[in-house]
Amino acid sequence: MNPKLATIEKVLSVHHYTDRLFKFRITRPQSFRFRSGEFVMIGLLQDDGKPLLRAYSVASPSWDEELEFFSIKVPDGPLTSRLQKIQPGDEILLGKKPTGTLVLDALTPGKRLYMFSTGTGFAPFASLIRDPETYEKFDEVIVTHTCRQVNELAYSVEMVEGLINDPLIGEMAQGKLRHYTTCTREDHPHTGRITTLVENGQLFDDLGVPKLDPATDRAMICGSMEMIRDTAELMEKAGLTEGSNAKPAEYVIEKAFAG
Ligand code: A2P
Repeated sequence: MNPKLATIEKVLSVHHYTDRLFKFRITRPQSFRFRSGEFVMIGLLQDDGKPLLRAYSVASPSWDEELEFFSIKVPDGPLTSRLQKIQPGDEILLGKKPTGTLVLDALTPGKRLYMFSTGTGFAPFASLIRDPETYEKFDEVIVTHTCRQVNELAYSVEMVEGLINDPLIGEMAQGKLRHYTTCTREDHPHTGRITTLVENGQLFDDLGVPKLDPATDRAMICGSMEMIRDTAELMEKAGLTEGSNAKPAEYVIEKAFAG
């Protein structure tokens, strides 16, 4: 393992939500700096001693002393088939170069920030909604999470509930952070794809907010390639333009990683 590329960290805790989803926390070296919303390579050493690394959004905020990740389990996935078996005390590889576009710096100033996510695409937003800077920059923060089944929403539901009661972030998030969950294949208070709910206006009616407006609204999108493509199209239709680290604008995208 090339020590220039990755450090060896320890698994601190693992929590399984469903047979498809789990979260884990690992040690964070003091030298590891990242911006909330970024991703990094993590992985395991293979039997032949070579590293197997995949991109993962850091789900913990940049001030946290530990690092948290939210992962899918793919039965025949080269990494996740092994990663889902990790236990506290196990070793895990952590890349040294976090990067990404789902960062506050890639957005121009606005009033209302939307974070649209499906499945494990919630991970970068788990980081951002725990970062005080998000609430310093925006008056209202709306994070949406869509999954096939109700039990797949557990991570985001637990996170938002815990956050409101957090002594550090709770006060900043209170009255600003709104969590909107939808299911596509099970009964739930809100059902349907987020793209449908944006397109037919149901999301805005349910939240009691005006339709998307490039003068006030900013958006971050994280999900499958198809979900990103379709949601980005709706942002463009509403007049928002895509931003990047080099050229901040009104919305940014990143694929939810799996493997
Ligand atoms: P659906 O059940 O209608 O496919 P997945 O687990 O396949 O990544 O899906 C996670 C969630 O994202 C599901 O609720 C799924 O809805 C939804 N989804 C899948 N494709 C799109 C898309 N192109 N636009 C919006 N939502 C999508």
